[in-house]
Amino acid sequence: SLYADSEQASAAVAAQIADLIRSRAAEGRPCVLGLATGSSPTRVYEELVRLHREEGLSFQNVISFNLDEYYPMAPGSLQSYVRFMREYLFDHVDIKPENVHIPDGTVPSEQVGEFCQRYEEQIQQAGGIDLQLLGIGRTGHIGFNEPGSGPASRTRMITLDHVTRTDAASDFYGEENVPRRALTMGVGTILEARQIVLLAWGEGKAAVVKRMVEGDVTDTVPATYLQRHPAVQVVLDEAAGAEL
Ligand code: GLP
Repeated sequence: SLYADSEQASAAVAAQIADLIRSRAAEGRPCVLGLATGSSPTRVYEELVRLHREEGLSFQNVISFNLDEYYPMAPGSLQSYVRFMREYLFDHVDIKPENVHIPDGTVPSEQVGEFCQRYEEQIQQAGGIDLQLLGIGRTGHIGFNEPGSGPASRTRMITLDHVTRTDAASDFYGEENVPRRALTMGVGTILEARQIVLLAWGEGKAAVVKRMVEGDVTDTVPATYLQRHPAVQVVLDEAAGAEL
């Protein structure tokens, strides 16, 4: 769907997520959300916080799994995705702390494989992801699945692309401070979500959005694997959709 601006689009996505949370609650069931960081989803989270405050939307039945985290990364660091999620969402709603999952950027390297496998098992035990929110990087990454990531990839440690590290440089006060690695759900993990909502705003995303939607399905642009998913919504503002 194409919206005039990201504010309207974000409000619509937040309303959709709120409906899903409420319908699951009405059935007495958990709602399992896959969550993303970056600038794209911030307004969705702000709107969910507003719905919690003003309309009583409860997150008591929500179980969340974040896509990714830099590695290494201390949870208290300014740039950690733990901190991001607390700042934009978790500190402002009634989600149960034990229901929040974010890849742990402090796991010793020899335990990363085991940690990632357990992350996958936790997703399965929760019943799988009902709705996965995604942004897209200029490299065509979803989560931190950089070019070269295939459709069978699972949660694992990856090496960040140069372009991604350049884009993150301002957050880290210089590219040399951006971690070289990250933990991320795999393309295969993401594709198992029942429903996927990808957000992209601004002219800087127009070229990669075109490749994702109209290009051949390839490891070179991992987001193209979303073409194979039966329930994906691509939510764009006019600038991001300008090349379609
Ligand atoms: C980051 C995140 C991705 C995100 C992407 C786009 O690297 N790990 O999950 O989708 O970059 O970020 P933004 O929304 O700020 O454009």
